[in-house]
Amino acid sequence: MSTIEAQRATDAYALARTPQEYERLRAQSRVWEAATSRLLDQVALAPGARCLDAGCGPGETMRLMAQRVGPAGRVTGIDVDAPLGAQALTMLHDAGHRQCRFAPHDITTDEPLPGAPFDLVYARLLLFHLAERVAALRRLWDAVAPGGHLVVQDYDLRSVTVEPALESAAECRRVIVESFSAAGCDVNLGALLPDLFAQAGIGAPDGTDVTGRLEPLGDAQRMITGVYTSVLAAAIGSGITTEERAAASLSRFAGDATRFPDRPTLWPLLIGAWKRKPTGAESERTR
Ligand SMILES: C[S@@+](CC[C@H](N)C(=O)[O-])C[C@H]1O[C@@H](n2cnc3c(N)ncnc32)[C@H](O)[C@@H]1O
Repeated sequence: MSTIEAQRATDAYALARTPQEYERLRAQSRVWEAATSRLLDQVALAPGARCLDAGCGPGETMRLMAQRVGPAGRVTGIDVDAPLGAQALTMLHDAGHRQCRFAPHDITTDEPLPGAPFDLVYARLLLFHLAERVAALRRLWDAVAPGGHLVVQDYDLRSVTVEPALESAAECRRVIVESFSAAGCDVNLGALLPDLFAQAGIGAPDGTDVTGRLEPLGDAQRMITGVYTSVLAAAIGSGITTEERAAASLSRFAGDATRFPDRPTLWPLLIGAWKRKPTGAESERTR
């Protein structure tokens, strides 16, 4: 088995579970920090509130929650990746956010969500990765306390383009999209969130939010190459590319990024949707 193949996650997850991938997730979190903060403020996350970050990864959104709920609040992160969760908790506790805790948990199982119910249940870039996304979303909604909120943010990959187009970038995009699709992901999920809410019995979202990012190829190259490298083991395992072809593609893409560093490059759209759960009295009144 090659080094690349050994990096493949043991579950259906298309991304790698390597230190490089964890760093990429932290960098990606920094890019979307303002968009996520806006949604946390939109649902008026109050001091003392109880929050869940489902699929918390490196814990960067837990930090944003902890800053808002203060020491009297409670922030729980869950993730199937226990070592990454442990790293997140160390970072949060070192930063003084002692109200944060982490529990290893697979959202595709029927195990009760640890610490439920919550005033805020949040998930970013989690449902994208799950074939059983409707059932998972229903579990997240069940964990929302009456009067609390569900907030979801997910990618829609259709926007990803370099202008004018480059063959090397299109090949990177092909491998990334096909790898996610082969792993059961819906790469257009962001735009489908209202439909997913309906399928999960939640009803229409109270609001939605669409955020994009346009940057020169010279800057965007790092994230595109990072995602490509992260899905590469899954891509090779599914026959989407080979180690040799991937090395040639990455080298061509790096060359093009050096030659055309100013070409505008559009990231995936990050699309958010939220819904407040009615209190018992509110539900009674609408009957
Ligand atoms: C792309 S990362 C996003 C991490 C974080 N939410 C963020 O936006 O930075 C997806 C995360 O979902 C986690 N995950 C994947 N499948 C999961 C499952 N079935 N249950 C819980 N977490 C899962 C992964 O381990 C990973 O940490």
